[in-house]
Amino acid sequence: MLLEVKDLNVRFATPDGEVKAVNGIDLDVERGETLGIVGESGSGKSQLAFAIMGLLARNGTATGSVRFEGQEILNAPARTLSKLRAERIAMVFQDPMTSLNPYMRVSDQMAEVLMLHKGMGKSAAVAESVRMLDAVRIPDARGRVKLHPHEFSGGMRQRVMIAMALLCRPDLLIADEPTTALDVTVQAQIMELLDDLQRDFGMAMILITHDLGVVAGSCERVMVMYGGRTLERAPVDPLFAAPTQPYTQGLLSAIPRVDQRGSRLSAIPGSPPNMTRPPAGCPFTPRCAYVMDVCHQAMPPLVTFEPGRSRACYAEIERVMAGPPPVVEMPEPAAAELLETTAPDLTNALPDAAVAGAGSAGVTPEGRRP
Ligand SMILES: Nc1ncnc2c1ncn2[C@@H]1O[C@H](COP(=O)(O)OP(=O)(O)OP(=O)(O)O)[C@@H](O)[C@H]1O
Ligand code: SF4
Ligand SMILES: [Mg+2]
Repeated sequence: MLLEVKDLNVRFATPDGEVKAVNGIDLDVERGETLGIVGESGSGKSQLAFAIMGLLARNGTATGSVRFEGQEILNAPARTLSKLRAERIAMVFQDPMTSLNPYMRVSDQMAEVLMLHKGMGKSAAVAESVRMLDAVRIPDARGRVKLHPHEFSGGMRQRVMIAMALLCRPDLLIADEPTTALDVTVQAQIMELLDDLQRDFGMAMILITHDLGVVAGSCERVMVMYGGRTLERAPVDPLFAAPTQPYTQGLLSAIPRVDQRGSRLSAIPGSPPNMTRPPAGCPFTPRCAYVMDVCHQAMPPLVTFEPGRSRACYAEIERVMAGPPPVVEMPEPAAAELLETTAPDLTNALPDAAVAGAGSAGVTPEGRRP
């Protein structure tokens, strides 16, 4: 096994309390394979990657275990980690300018990496940099290597960053949303390029993305994250054909699919939890159409129910596969009647001025004017 992560937790100290960004994540990556990690914004994808790379912000701490080729690297000394990052595990970020120095020519930045980590002389290092820019399909690489990063277009800059990441031929590439900032055509070109390079270089890849379409095209296995936890893990085909977890089901029904023409797209109602005060049980409870009492009490364990497939959910698989329960729409008179009999009398709870001045829609539930 190339990478083995066990019970990884990431916490951030903030003035509002502790942010529980990553909670008990297990994952493994074999040589040459691609693992996709998907989940909405804030689900902990990037912090998981940063913890593996030893790149957490100063207020963050990571516990658990990260083994690379059997060697523990979580919280390893800075020198070990920077050598590992330069030579064995590389990362591509969403914004190329986070890893390119705007003041240095691309040739100098790339050559520096090779001189430092591969002991090359300057001219051999520049020649190798040009070869790598060619590999990522930068036209006229020999001429352009002398430019500064801002002289490249967004898509080209992303290619330069990928070339930088691959200079030392890493065994593992972590690509964190490598295409979100780019337009759709360039996105497709970059994904195709990553697939080709992965095959040519024989490296493994962790691909972090919001985009399930990208996962379907490039990954063998997928891990679905929510609230810093793994909710489902499966090979790509069965996950797309029959998601067993309500959150995965919600993500899939929000993307257009050529194999399900004419079906409705639906967004998952609500928003992800505040990770300073996550729900006590399953983090998806406030938004889940299948929620039961038990879901509020404890996080469902991640259970393997067939080889390679696991899910964390209290609802039975058959129930989830049958689809969400229909939303009961009440006929209007019945709804009005219900409101009349159950709406609390707020008259005494509101300041006098608000009550006196309020028409039927004049105050918000907090007693303030909208
Ligand atoms: N330095 C920090 N201090 C406090 N909280 C942080 C810090 N960095 C990240 N977080 C919080 O950790 C949680 C997970 O963030 P993370 O960046 O991993 O999300 P993500 O899944 O990568 O989202 P996106 O898709 O938007 O990139 C979020 O709630 C975020 O606000
Ligand atoms: S455990 Fe409960 S709340 Fe969580 S996804 Fe399953 S049914 Fe929904
Ligand atoms: Mg992120």
